[in-house]
Amino acid sequence: MEDRILTALNLGDDSYEYSLRPQSLKEYIGQDKVKEKMNIFVTAARRRKEALDHVLLYGPPGLGKTTLANIIAKEMGGNLKITSGPAIERAGDLAAILTGLSEFDVLFIDEIHRLNRSVEEILYPAMEDYALDIIIGKGAAAKSIRLDLPKFTLIGATTRVGLLTSPLRDRFGVLCPMEFYTSEELKEIIIRSSSILNVKIDEEAAYEISRRSRGTPRIANRLLKRVRDYSEVKGKGTIDLDSSKKALELLEVDKEGFDSIDNKIIEAVVDNFNGGPVGIETLAYFIGEELDTIEDVYEPYLLQKGFIIRTPRGRVATEKAYKHLNRPYRKNIDGRQCSVFDKEKNQ
Ligand SMILES: Nc1ncnc2c1ncn2[C@@H]1O[C@H](COP(=O)(O)OP(=O)(O)OP(=O)(O)O)[C@@H](O)[C@H]1O
Ligand SMILES: [Mg+2]
Repeated sequence: MEDRILTALNLGDDSYEYSLRPQSLKEYIGQDKVKEKMNIFVTAARRRKEALDHVLLYGPPGLGKTTLANIIAKEMGGNLKITSGPAIERAGDLAAILTGLSEFDVLFIDEIHRLNRSVEEILYPAMEDYALDIIIGKGAAAKSIRLDLPKFTLIGATTRVGLLTSPLRDRFGVLCPMEFYTSEELKEIIIRSSSILNVKIDEEAAYEISRRSRGTPRIANRLLKRVRDYSEVKGKGTIDLDSSKKALELLEVDKEGFDSIDNKIIEAVVDNFNGGPVGIETLAYFIGEELDTIEDVYEPYLLQKGFIIRTPRGRVATEKAYKHLNRPYRKNIDGRQCSVFDKEKNQ
């Protein structure tokens, strides 16, 4: 997993990420719906001199959630405090963070679905009433006192919105699903990053890299860096179509932007499970990958590209998957699956 270039996960090798991060909504490319929403709500909150309502950003890794939280804090004129669900172990840890905030600050909690229950309960009154309930003493003598908190904004980020408890989810005023980027948007991101990294790139080369970046800016930037290395050593110093194609070949990124694990998944469904339906747990076990990794990192992109579909009985390979593997398409696996295909086609 660690040396996979196509992973959307932050591997900690991305110290350059900071410099490549857009600093304002204007510089933030793509995610038009999210941007429009944020622009309106931030402007309205600033006019009313109120804190922005709490925001939940959800979607696969590497799509720009942390970047967006930075931008929101900046636009609100507050400081950004970053933490994560698993980092807040006890209720007292969160209480300390909350009392350290100032008005209009943004508290960013990454992987918010991993907060433990006792910590989560502290968040409810904090989000709803900007209040902190503290229990003093024990047993019958215990007393609860309420402390006021500054008006802050909580931004929660998660790759697994389904794992959030409903009381927590309901306390967010703004829900923002993050979507995969189009190749055009990624091309723009790559051109922008190249100029920051001070490397010349042809438009066609940027497009070639963008097509293979799994709709994810983090991967686009990572591929760009490796292609740059290749072009500096083997090419003419600038990134052109030829050098980018050769570099991507060397990196074993195929035309769809799939790597060996994506291909293993597609192959398993088509060849070993007769095109499906196959349960996700079975599939993960068969491939020898963590279930979470398959669900968070691989499956969303394969679904979005239409190589597999989800049915109530498991994952099913589509015609595109068969074509990708150069296998004759077999649609007659069982009656129920055919109806799924037909329904999809008629939509
Ligand atoms: N809209 C965008 N425009 C330009 N660059 C972007 C955009 N979104 C993300 N990036 C780039 O992608 C990188 C990854 O983004 P970011 O760290 O915000 O993702 P994330 O969604 O928080 O990921 P994770 O789920 O792993 O925390 C950033 O360094 C940034 O340079
Ligand atoms: Mg992040």
